[in-house]
Amino acid sequence: MRILSGVQPSGAPHIGNYFGAIKQHIELQDKPDAEAYYFIADYHAMTTVHDADELRGYIMDVALDYLALGLDPKKAVFFRQSAIPEVLELTWMLGCCTGMGLLERAHSYKDKIARGFKPSVGLFYYPVLMAADILLYKSKRVPVGADQVQHIEMTQDMAEYFNNRYGTDVLVRPEPLLNATARVPGTDGQKMSKSYKNTISLALEGKALKKTVMGIVTDSTPLEDPKDPDTCNVFSLYQLFANEDEQKALAEQYRAGGMGYGDAKKQLLEKIQEYFAPYREKRKELEQNLDHVRDVLKDGAERARAIATVTLDEVRKASGLL
Ligand code: ADP
Ligand code: TRP
Repeated sequence: MRILSGVQPSGAPHIGNYFGAIKQHIELQDKPDAEAYYFIADYHAMTTVHDADELRGYIMDVALDYLALGLDPKKAVFFRQSAIPEVLELTWMLGCCTGMGLLERAHSYKDKIARGFKPSVGLFYYPVLMAADILLYKSKRVPVGADQVQHIEMTQDMAEYFNNRYGTDVLVRPEPLLNATARVPGTDGQKMSKSYKNTISLALEGKALKKTVMGIVTDSTPLEDPKDPDTCNVFSLYQLFANEDEQKALAEQYRAGGMGYGDAKKQLLEKIQEYFAPYREKRKELEQNLDHVRDVLKDGAERARAIATVTLDEVRKASGLL
């Protein structure tokens, strides 16, 4: 079964991306019946990243992070979206089958506009490109966070519009594959997101990491009073790293009172440092060998393209272009 997902290089990957997406992606490469395809959605990132050097840097950040976190290019196909420009042709074809109303309902577009992004045509068209990403590789399962489910549903609709219009079944209906960790809170308690500037990025270490963790927003319950772990951002983050006994122990400390949030933050900091230590080491190694990273992406692009060109031929035939 083909599994595919993309991650935008719109900032350095963070703990929310890891628990909400990357971790699951990497685990899926070992599923016996899975053929995993992962790509860096650089065309998508152009909707919000407008500086060439910045985009180049983020693309490399995502590549380094996936490889350092355990993506194995022998098990999963890993490539850059823009290395297969065929996706843009399918985007156009799908756009011609899709009513404006469908795109006007997209939450992520409305959200971005509400947050002050300029409503470019590209930003509006974003879900069509995402549908083309998925359909070009005939992906059956798309592992994503909850915020992306609407885009997968739109993809299902677009596949149906195309297939119905041309009396074909060339486009395959994908299903979302939701991760259990639906929403990782950021340092301010909102969803952790690159665009909210509330992230703990994976590559952060030393003083910078400490400063970020110590800056997590908590309420103003005095040190000696009992505290509620279930409403605390520090505790929510701690749960991602700790086993059940450790979680229980910290929850008891919260409820007993006499422990300040500073202590809980220190425990969280230790967990983050320990959990990501092997990744940091591997990332530093890879940083010394960027040619290897580029080779991995190039090889992945060749494998992805072999599938993309076949689908594109089929949709061209079905729609009268061939
Ligand atoms: P961001 O919001 O930081 O820009 P993206 O939109 O690039 O993140 O998301 C990349 C992947 O990470 C998506 O599958 C998304 O669902 C997941 N993700 C992002 N932020 C979180 C979060 N705070 N909690 C859980 N999953 C998240
Ligand atoms: N829109 C997705 C996000 O922000 C990234 C993405 C682009 C994607 N194309 C995709 C995810 C195709 C899954 C499948 O997270």
